[in-house]
Amino acid sequence: MSKTIPIFLTLILLSFFISVMSTEPMIDDDNDIEELLAVDAEEEGNQQQGNELKSSQEATTLTKAQRIVLELSNERIKDVLDGNEYVLVLGYAPWCGRSAELMPRFAEAATTLKEMGSPVLMAKLDAERYPNAASGLGIKGFPTLLLFVNGSSQSYTGGFTSEEIVIWVRKRTAVPIIRLASVPEAEKFMGKYQMFAVGLFGKFEGDKYEEFTKAAVADNEIQFAETSSTEIAEVLFPDRNAKDIFLGLVKSEPEKYVRFDDAFEKEKMLEFLEYNKFPLVTVMTEMNSVKIHSSPLKLQVIIFAEEDDFKNLILLLQNVARKFQSKIMFIYVDIAEENLAKPFLTLFGLEESDKTVVVAFDNKRSSKYLLESDPTPSNLEKNATVQTVVGRTFSDLVLKSPQNVLLEVHTPWCINCESTSKQVEKLAKHFKGLDDLIIARIDASSNEHQELQVDEFPSLLFYPSGNKSNPIKLPTKSSSKELAALVKKYLRAEVRGISTDDQTTKDEL
Ligand SMILES: *[C@@H]1O[C@H](CO)[C@@H](O)[C@H](O)[C@H]1NC(C)=O
Ligand SMILES: *[C@@H]1O[C@H](CO)[C@@H](O)[C@H](O)[C@H]1NC(C)=O
Ligand SMILES: *[C@@H]1O[C@H](CO)[C@@H](O)[C@H](O)[C@H]1NC(C)=O
Repeated sequence: MSKTIPIFLTLILLSFFISVMSTEPMIDDDNDIEELLAVDAEEEGNQQQGNELKSSQEATTLTKAQRIVLELSNERIKDVLDGNEYVLVLGYAPWCGRSAELMPRFAEAATTLKEMGSPVLMAKLDAERYPNAASGLGIKGFPTLLLFVNGSSQSYTGGFTSEEIVIWVRKRTAVPIIRLASVPEAEKFMGKYQMFAVGLFGKFEGDKYEEFTKAAVADNEIQFAETSSTEIAEVLFPDRNAKDIFLGLVKSEPEKYVRFDDAFEKEKMLEFLEYNKFPLVTVMTEMNSVKIHSSPLKLQVIIFAEEDDFKNLILLLQNVARKFQSKIMFIYVDIAEENLAKPFLTLFGLEESDKTVVVAFDNKRSSKYLLESDPTPSNLEKNATVQTVVGRTFSDLVLKSPQNVLLEVHTPWCINCESTSKQVEKLAKHFKGLDDLIIARIDASSNEHQELQVDEFPSLLFYPSGNKSNPIKLPTKSSSKELAALVKKYLRAEVRGISTDDQTTKDEL
């Protein structure tokens, strides 16, 4: 481990951003290519019909009627952008796996929008084939989505499922709120959206309603619905606790209903949605990683596991997550997804892990934690056993905490650090569940504190709870057993009367 945590987190964020915007060729898997070809083939057919008209003007008119994804070329771009009030352009590259992933969703969104009578023309541009046209439009990475309104572009800020594309486009080009006037309409609406916000207003006017409308436009990914009928509201959001004005969020997952209890102001509503829109456990994908990292929920617990192991864990995780709703975000990453998993696992030196790994980030305090025991509910709720301390948190976690602290001081390059780290991890396992002992480590190459003076790496320091200014140095060359015995001795000296034996002998060292 190395570097300070803030830099690390920035790097992670950056690497996610870069990986989404990457212009470097990546290896497509066959499915992606097949999907891409399928979409292209479908569209070639449509294009051929267009070409027969031999006039780009007519072609545009035709595709406008058909509302399918139009393939742009150098010659067509100007006509298309000039001739249509709204054009959503997807800039892609044929070799780009993420483009291939997005393309079928884009086509699906185009079909849905067409069915809804949307005025948007959906188009795509092969930026590899037409690099000048692409850079002229402002397409720099792949995939890029841009909305052109009367020829001027705005960046796309929505999500990347077909439903999210449809919602975002409708917010920008049509009515942002769907008004529901009957129970069957409401039932149909519910069947269509994975997630929606529902507002109940006696009359569609007044300050509160206006704030609601503003929030609906400003939000980027949630479909808003409104109704003035309590009966319809009851269908959409049962047990509202009858109120004449109401806002709630409905999701397709075990934690289905969340009600808004704050003042009806745009910013407060948006904040409520931001904090509550994620499911109990969010599955991280290339497409939503940026969204996860930009969430205002700064406490994040990430579970890395094989898909089958995750299936066994999901109920348990949901139960834990429910307790920390809108406070801690629970995220699952398939350990096989190297691009997603590796940057995190590297932080903890666990790149090669094929076991379930649970880590936590407190992005407010810039701390990271590793859960080194089995992911059971009580272990998940407890803080990780080996805590990572940085310069800024040294005072709070080591000097001011009421517990005894065993601190491992290491650097990325020191010769015996790795074996000492392993021993400390064993000790952490051995002493697990002991409330008066914190086991922590600090990377001295990138963290400083005036109270932390060591002359060799690695160093193991025991900070007695009653005498934090006089840490005791432990011999790092000792065996785990000897170290455990020493720690026990110091703990006994510190807190007379508490026997550590019965609690701590369960794990063999
Ligand atoms: C686009 O231009 C047309 C014609 O000038 C105008 O009527 C329309 O309001 C414009 N659309 C937007 C969204 O500004
Ligand atoms: C972890 O510990 C910190 C302080 O050490 C505390 O504020 C936080 O609530 C703990 N988290 C959990 C999930 O218990
Ligand atoms: C703290 O430790 C120092 C050095 O071991 C010792 O001299 C001192 O008496 C201790 N103070 C307390 C309050 O135990």
